[in-house]
Amino acid sequence: MTRIRCDRTPAWSALQTAFNTHGRSFDARTAFAAEPGRFEAFSQSAPHIFADLSKNLIDAATQQLLFDLARQSGVEAHRAALFAGAAINNTEQRAVMHWLLRNPPLAPVDTAQVATNNIASESGKVHAKLDAMLAYAQTVRADAAITDVVNIGIGGSDLGPQMAVLALDAFALPGKRFHFVSNVDGHELAAVLQRLKPESTLFLIASKTFTTIETMTNAQSAKAWFDAQGGTDIGRHFAALTTNVAAANAFGISSTFGFWDWVGGRYSVWSAIGLPLAIAIGADGFREFLAGAHAMDEHFRSAPLEQNLPVRLALLDVWYRNFHGFTSRSIAPYHSALRRLPAYLQQLEMESNGKRVDAQGETLPYGTSPVLWGEPGTNGQHAYFQMLHQGTDVVPVEFVAVKKPKHSLPAHHDLLLANVLAQAQALMVGKADAGGHKHFPGNRPSTFLLLDELTPASLGALIALQEHRVFVSGSLWGINSFDQWGVELGKVLAKEIAPRLASGDARGLDGSTAGLLARLRA
Ligand code: F6P
Repeated sequence: MTRIRCDRTPAWSALQTAFNTHGRSFDARTAFAAEPGRFEAFSQSAPHIFADLSKNLIDAATQQLLFDLARQSGVEAHRAALFAGAAINNTEQRAVMHWLLRNPPLAPVDTAQVATNNIASESGKVHAKLDAMLAYAQTVRADAAITDVVNIGIGGSDLGPQMAVLALDAFALPGKRFHFVSNVDGHELAAVLQRLKPESTLFLIASKTFTTIETMTNAQSAKAWFDAQGGTDIGRHFAALTTNVAAANAFGISSTFGFWDWVGGRYSVWSAIGLPLAIAIGADGFREFLAGAHAMDEHFRSAPLEQNLPVRLALLDVWYRNFHGFTSRSIAPYHSALRRLPAYLQQLEMESNGKRVDAQGETLPYGTSPVLWGEPGTNGQHAYFQMLHQGTDVVPVEFVAVKKPKHSLPAHHDLLLANVLAQAQALMVGKADAGGHKHFPGNRPSTFLLLDELTPASLGALIALQEHRVFVSGSLWGINSFDQWGVELGKVLAKEIAPRLASGDARGLDGSTAGLLARLRA
């Protein structure tokens, strides 16, 4: 597989010229006036999702250069390596195969095709584990005595299942409450525990490594609470979701659901880490979730770059980050059930592509991951949209809207949809006003993702779309999107500082940390 860093391709220089000659001054309003077919030309259908890209700051010629950039950087070969199970996570020598978790069982012909690598054998294991996990989920669903499911996990072992359980609340089994405890801050666990009884609670200890200090601390405290409250039968009330089954057993948990080191934490909602979702929406619902993601995998794998939605989104991301110099992207889901989507996408994109060196360790001369942030609409409109419309920085906005609601309250949904349309329109068209304060410059870019309905399948497709988009931008930037060394230093230092809070030993600390330590102990 040949990967060529984006800045070393002819297309990169051509894009620089294009930006300097007309890209910088591109005006979407003028483009709409000049191109009657702009909406059609800059929209893209993909499984379960329609994307309107036409309000972005891009013309056909620039888009073509971006496709050239993708081809010259070797994105297609890199994509093939992803789906071939190659060890593209080069700093950890791991394959990246979260897509296999949603692949149907391999047909014999497929097995023959992939005989040269480990996909066939891994696929068999995936389906055996999936069947076991879903059978367990069904048992829990049928167990009326279990009323509360508490997921203890952090990062990818929290954000994915939490986001998805909230998003698919309309499909959830009534009579079970779901709680997500991630923070080592005891306020979080204490607030949940005070509402629980041991005999009606199932704790899911979710940790890929089963070593993460926050999760282990919360799990220990949950177990201590369970014992102190007279809880019996750990086997019934605790289960572990992990690749480190031995550590879970050593912790005292015998019900375990495993997965593999080729599943990155932030890509793990499709694995045993998705158990809370499987309990909430049932085995059939979880299989639909996987099927929606698989449909997007097939789109990404097979559509030509020109009609490939993850590719088109990623190319816009690179255009904005590296040519326009925009440093963030705002996520605006116009569906309250998607309220944790921005947090989920933050980890997906910023932990994957927040890298300052390329895959070979060479310092990059250009920016990588933008800052992702956002809140559901319409709430964001009454908080920070002022800045989006009239601030000094341009922030591309990604709207997510859903055509059909799951409630029957009259008027609300049309008003919601009117708002999302109005915000996207206002950002682009702006409003001239001589007074300054009431002037809206307009020409502020946005992408509009439209789902027919928010279902397990469409949510699966939406998440897989975002995974692949992050893959493509990371591929163009020449980085390894699948490690996360940047989180290690803080973990090591926290371990080193923890005993100092008790002892007060400030030797070797910098002046600020020593001063704060002293104040905290005073
Ligand atoms: O610290 C970062 C991280 O490793 C994430 O990548 C991961 O999702 C999270 O911690 C939790 O890790 P684990 O599932 O191993 O507890």
